[in-house]
Amino acid sequence: MKELMQKLREASLQAVSQAPTMETLEDMRVRYLGKKGELTGILRQMGKLSAEERPAMGQLANQLRADIEAAIDARRESLSKALLEMKLQQETLDVTLPGEADRLGHKHPMYNVLDQIKDIFVGMGFEILDGPEVEKAEYNFDKLNIDAGHPSRDWTDTFYFTEDGKILLRTQTSPMQIHAMETRELPIRVLAPGRVYRKDEVDATHSPMFHQIEGLVVDKGVTMADLKATLNLVVEQIYGKGTVTRFRPHHFPFTEPSCELDIQCHKCGGKGCPTCKGEGWIEVLGAGMVHPKVLAGCGIDPDVYSGWAFGMGLERLAMGEYKITDLRLIFENDERFLQQF
Ligand code: DAH
Repeated sequence: MKELMQKLREASLQAVSQAPTMETLEDMRVRYLGKKGELTGILRQMGKLSAEERPAMGQLANQLRADIEAAIDARRESLSKALLEMKLQQETLDVTLPGEADRLGHKHPMYNVLDQIKDIFVGMGFEILDGPEVEKAEYNFDKLNIDAGHPSRDWTDTFYFTEDGKILLRTQTSPMQIHAMETRELPIRVLAPGRVYRKDEVDATHSPMFHQIEGLVVDKGVTMADLKATLNLVVEQIYGKGTVTRFRPHHFPFTEPSCELDIQCHKCGGKGCPTCKGEGWIEVLGAGMVHPKVLAGCGIDPDVYSGWAFGMGLERLAMGEYKITDLRLIFENDERFLQQF
């Protein structure tokens, strides 16, 4: 029995000291010291011993149990230490590494210009309106007095959603005039910026999507003089005091009379240069007095009320302001371009 215990001592202490994991260590504890373990197995043979031999053998067995337990504890400790060390190593953080700076973007240059325009109009008591880009032909054309045969309604010019041509991507922000007149109390002063769509090939001055800003005023006694005075004021705030303007007669179906507003080239003072393409003048917007038919169509009595409206291209304005020569730069979002503003 003594030899058996000696053998168990050698085998167990050796195995425990090399247990590779916590799990194998626990298996060993069960195997050597458990109720059905090897030590218990040996002790079962105590009955065969004489009464004199028993106490010494019992003591030996207790000592062996204590030693194996101690060896297991020691191994457990060294395993957990190694485990911790491994974990620490895996999670090492080198605080001396250079950091990664958060990159903060900024507003797109075109929206800088839009914000400037909005500020000017809000300062004059205008309300900013947002409206649908998917629009009824009724609002984009019919109610704006654009008849069925008008070239802008052609399928080669406009993105239609339905075969019947009733739903489309708005080709202008002018339908916002109708929305405003149908939903707003009089008097009306609104500014409606937004995206518009046309079937144009992309080049330096064209894009199938671009932005317009629509303006509308409806009140009693509104005249062309209000239109001119207000737009002159706006132009001076954008291009500087003393900027010379000219109002040229034009035709739009939804205004009567209609005009286009040019500014004298701020680059050459009207002599002609590359900025104004030798013209001396730069076209800024279309405008006019709201057509009586359009007012009446929205339930507004044209004998009592009158109004003026304008529409301008936002990209063209931003390109002028920032000396951008190619429209595509505005939409490509190349950071080398955007970072300049
Ligand atoms: N909607 C016109 C266009 O896209 C621009 C325009 C002209 C708007 C005259 C107006 C206006 O409100 O009165 O060409």
